[in-house]
Amino acid sequence: MPPGFRFISGYLNRAAQETLAAAIGEVIERAPLYTPRMPRSGKPLSVRMTNCGALGWSSDVAGYRYQRTHPETGGPWSPMPAILLETWRMLAAYPHPPEACLVNFYAPTARMGLHQDRDEQDFAAPVLSLSLGDGCLFRLGGLSRKDPTRSFRLASGDALVLGGEARLAFHGVERIFPGSSTLLPGGGRINLTLRRVSLP
Ligand code: SIN
Ligand code: FE2
Repeated sequence: MPPGFRFISGYLNRAAQETLAAAIGEVIERAPLYTPRMPRSGKPLSVRMTNCGALGWSSDVAGYRYQRTHPETGGPWSPMPAILLETWRMLAAYPHPPEACLVNFYAPTARMGLHQDRDEQDFAAPVLSLSLGDGCLFRLGGLSRKDPTRSFRLASGDALVLGGEARLAFHGVERIFPGSSTLLPGGGRINLTLRRVSLP
């Protein structure tokens, strides 16, 4: 694994997963999941998204950006739940708080192609990822799209840290394992990625 990459299996216990899933339910009530579109082609992504925190990542025909408002409702994003700020303090090893948390919802057939997280100004801060609900096959590569990749399973409660040399590592989600968790009543997988966007 590249230096700066950490996989903390089972970081959140079941009670913490339930607390977080309930908090994300409120986030989604205030700032509903929407279907983002690929830059240029306008092709819909299979993942539905929303955000919490001051800034939210979004994608449409014009490109990728961070913005302060929901692209469909025009309203502000929900505040970041306390349990996410606490997790950042525990795992990020970074002195400034996260500004954005992207909420990805994967229905059973959704996936995410190999990409880098590089729309932030501050690459000194790690990207912190938490998984809830159904498991997935996660793919991690190197700093070049052509580098070899390895795939491993992520389960509900697992945390990943992409920091240091791994901050710009290519990654993606190959598939969801439907029915592999009882956490979310309707099934599916939620992934949360916390990011610091601007330079402190
Ligand atoms: C992402 O890279 O935005 C999501 C990764 C994941 O769903 O685990
Ligand atoms: Fe990503």
